[in-house]
Parts: sequence; C-alpha cells; structure tokens
Amino acid sequence: SLVLKSSTAQRRMPVIGMGSAPDFTCKSDTREAIIEAIKQGDRHFDTAAAYGSEQALGEAIKEAIEVGLVSREELFVTSKLWCTDNHPHLVASALRKSLRTLQLEYLDLYLIHWPICAKPGKFSFPIDAEELMPLNLKGIWGALEECQRLGLAKAIGVSNFSIKKLENLLSFATIPPAVNQVEMNLAWQQKNLRDFCKANDIIITAFSPLRKGASRGPNEAMDNDVVKDIADAHGKSSAQVCLRWLYEQGVTFLPKSYNKERMNQNLQIFNWSLTEEDYENISQIKQQRLISGPTKPQLKDLYDEEN
Ligand code: A2P
Repeated sequence: SLVLKSSTAQRRMPVIGMGSAPDFTCKSDTREAIIEAIKQGDRHFDTAAAYGSEQALGEAIKEAIEVGLVSREELFVTSKLWCTDNHPHLVASALRKSLRTLQLEYLDLYLIHWPICAKPGKFSFPIDAEELMPLNLKGIWGALEECQRLGLAKAIGVSNFSIKKLENLLSFATIPPAVNQVEMNLAWQQKNLRDFCKANDIIITAFSPLRKGASRGPNEAMDNDVVKDIADAHGKSSAQVCLRWLYEQGVTFLPKSYNKERMNQNLQIFNWSLTEEDYENISQIKQQRLISGPTKPQLKDLYDEEN
C-alpha cells in the first residue's frame, strides 16, 4: 500500500483495487463479485456516482462486514463526483448522496471524475456540447477540501487531469490532491505524468490497466506480441505482465474482473519482476490513448495534448 500524504492521518491506499465501472458485456452480479473479491483479499474498491455500481458495492460491503469477512477500517473505498455536480454548491450534497447509496459514513477517497462541468441535472452519457459550462475548479476544490475537513472523505483527489491542470490545481489548493486517477497501461504509459505526480506526491491510480474494459477493438496491451513474449518467458499471463509493470512504476491500479480465477490471477503479481530486457521491449510498444473522454463531440483541450 502507498501513503496518501495529504489525507487525514496519512492513510494508506492498497496498491491493487477492484474497479466497478459498467461493462455492458459483463452480465455478472457486482454484489457477488465484490464479496468474492473481499474473500480473495481485495481491500480497495473503486466506484463513481456515474457507474451505477455504488448500491451493489455498498450492499456487498455491508454483507461482508456483517458476516465478519472484513471491517470497515480495513477497506479503502473511492467514489467520484460526476460532471453535473461539478459546481461548488453541489459537491457536498453529491458526496452525501454517494455515502447514502453506499451505506457508508465516510469515503476513503473522493475524486473529481473529469475536469469538465456540465449543467446541473440529470445524468447523461456522453455529455452533449450544449450541456457544457466553464469549470470553477477553485470553487469545487474548496468544497472538496471542506468535505475532507468534515470527515466525509479521508482524502480528496482528481481523475483525468493533465499535468497542466494539476499545476493549476496545486497553485491554489490548501489540501493538495492525494490522487490522480487516469488511464494508464502498457499501451498508454504516460511517463511525463508519472514523473510529475511522483515529484508532487500525487499517487496515480491507473484505470483500464489491462486496456480491455471500455474498448471493443483489439487490445493493444494484453494482445501485444511484446507482452505475450514477456508473459511466456516468465510463465505468467499477459494480464499479469500488464499489472506487474504498473506495480513497478509505483502506481496503484484497478483491474476489474468478475471472474473468480482471473480475479485471483490479478492479485498474483508480487513474487517476480520484469528484467531490463523486458523494459527495452516494453519501450517499443506503440502508444495511444484509449479513452477519449465523456463528451460528444470530444473536447480538444481535455488532455492538453500531453503524454
Ligand atoms: P472478466 O470480468 O471476464 O475477467 P480493463 O483493465 O481495461 O478495465 O479491463 C477489464 C476487463 O478485463 C474485464 O472485462 C475483465 O473481464 C477482463 N480481465 C480482467 N482480468 C483479466 C485477466 N487476468 N485476463 C484476461 N482478462 C481479464
């Protein structure tokens, strides 16, 4: 686990977390999958108001605590503020709503889901251009800081922020962001962002660590020949190579599997390491961002064209 420097009482974040973003190809039951993950040793769970998984996650946590599998203090639960609530006066009520849905007293981490503001109101995905408004990041961050002071969240952070946007946030934050959750995987390695976050004590959480969930096309990470060769050489799976690489970068990551065997496989990445030669080959993997953002049309300056 890694220490969240700006959190209440320097809390620790387990390196591996289980994602719960909607995957429409996956018919399994979120509640059952979370309970199985807790049985297997997962302690870190990621959700968002936008995912529709808060209720199921909350029910699973409640059940796991009731049957004595785990205590609340052992769990690390993250949720995220949706773009329609990216308004200073809506932040605390959105967080309280997530807490009610999750049946929790506090979150371990609350993130701004996207650096995008949409008109308050009903959730829609993707967000239409006419729904967009200017983002009052300073006001929103102040409201998040207040939520941390009130104990509603032990730590606060952001998601999908570029270096430029983090620099802006750091210029006025009283409580610096503890985490930036972004797409990161072997096919989108983001070295500059990793270096920046490391230098500024911001923990990165990698979503789509296997680059599979949100895509319907070829998987440039797991199906890459370089990754397959490394996996064969170590007697591991491609998924384990993807996750081991993230672990060696000092980031936290959210593999999502609702399958018992793959869930277990994704936790078995600790007793081996990548070689120098593996790293040389990894540096040759073609880089391309998979996630273009939650709006339609795509926003040109969303990522400030960094990599
Ligand atoms: P499943 O639930 O059937 O295991 P991403 O990291 O890009 O979000 O990818 C998540 C997807 O990857 C899920 O659909 C999950 O499917 C699949 N997945 C998770 N772990 C593994 C694994 N070890 N090997 C192959 N596929 C996996």
